[in-house]
Amino acid sequence: MAANDLASPTPSAPLTDPFGRRVTYLRVSVTDRCDFRCVYCMAEDMTFLPKRDLLTLEELDRVCTAFVNHGVRKLRITGGEPLVRRDIMSLFRALARHLAAGALDELTLTTNGSQLARFAAELADCGVRRVNVSLDTLDPEKFKRITRWGDFAKVMAGIDAAQAQGLHVKINAVALKGVNDDEIETLLEWAHGRGMDLTFIEVMPLGEMEVARVDQFLPLSVVRARLLDRYTLVDLPDRTGGPARYVRVTETRGRLGFITPLTHNFCESCNRVRLTCTGKLYMCLGQEDAADLRTPMRLSEGDERLDQAIAEAIARKPKGHDFVIDRRRNQPAVGRHMSVTGG
Ligand SMILES: C[S@@+](CC[C@H](N)C(=O)[O-])C[C@H]1O[C@@H](n2cnc3c(N)ncnc32)[C@H](O)[C@@H]1O
Ligand code: SF4
Repeated sequence: MAANDLASPTPSAPLTDPFGRRVTYLRVSVTDRCDFRCVYCMAEDMTFLPKRDLLTLEELDRVCTAFVNHGVRKLRITGGEPLVRRDIMSLFRALARHLAAGALDELTLTTNGSQLARFAAELADCGVRRVNVSLDTLDPEKFKRITRWGDFAKVMAGIDAAQAQGLHVKINAVALKGVNDDEIETLLEWAHGRGMDLTFIEVMPLGEMEVARVDQFLPLSVVRARLLDRYTLVDLPDRTGGPARYVRVTETRGRLGFITPLTHNFCESCNRVRLTCTGKLYMCLGQEDAADLRTPMRLSEGDERLDQAIAEAIARKPKGHDFVIDRRRNQPAVGRHMSVTGG
């Protein structure tokens, strides 16, 4: 896909939802496939979508461009594992034109790091400045148990390559009771020692899974309290419009984030929507309602129908989610997996 073949956006009406929140951030899942099978994210025998259901890379560019055109300033490419989608760099290359034109502030991705060593240089060349790498443990054997199929050494090489290219790496770690709660301090010292931010995430009740969620759930209030025994945590005003709250750790001088969808409601400042790889737009990670953008996009070459579908979708963005890990029913609040909506 040649970036020059694609029209650059003409600014049009910004997207504001019924609660006055401006939508300026789009997360795009480019595939539901992955080369790992993390225990909290996927079953080992996942059935993936047939390839024909996926938006093509050109269509992904077209939807992203429509959102940029409507005032979206930040795009995050995610999945599944975004770097396993064939020819994914052509999408980054195409989207880079919006950075160059000043229409986009940030193009970024969330990855498991397995393919980063291969792609770090090209990502940097496309204008990517920051990358989130998901890593829950520094113990290679535990890493294998959590990811089932992952190779710890490859992820380390990916992080090295990203840093060597000058990319800012943020580590995301899901806090799992009885799994990595003995590594909280180790992860913190390691990440901050390498100049990387670290964010802990509470496990969310998404998708059916073999392991009961209630057994994995470790409230970050517990993590925070434990860290206070050894560290000084200074609240930071940094807000990304998302569920993360940040502190500065005085001793390590690094930034630490907490993503707490279950114990903290973050919806009032929500500025984001999520697109799946089949062109469904989820206005809230924790609700079932979604708008189909693929059909209107395919109905015509022009973007009028697509623009209209986007506007109608934003007009139904709900006030908030209601995640709950139900101890009696032990059912997920939302049936789809994170790899479908994009983390
Ligand atoms: C779905 S993954 C997609 C991108 C990429 N494959 C990765 O792992 O970074 C995005 C993030 O969602 C997190 N995640 C997946 N399932 C989750 C769950 N049930 N609860 C909380 N976080 C989850 C992962 O740990 C990862 O940080
Ligand atoms: S969390 Fe990311 S790496 Fe792990 S299975 Fe899900 S999509 Fe793959």
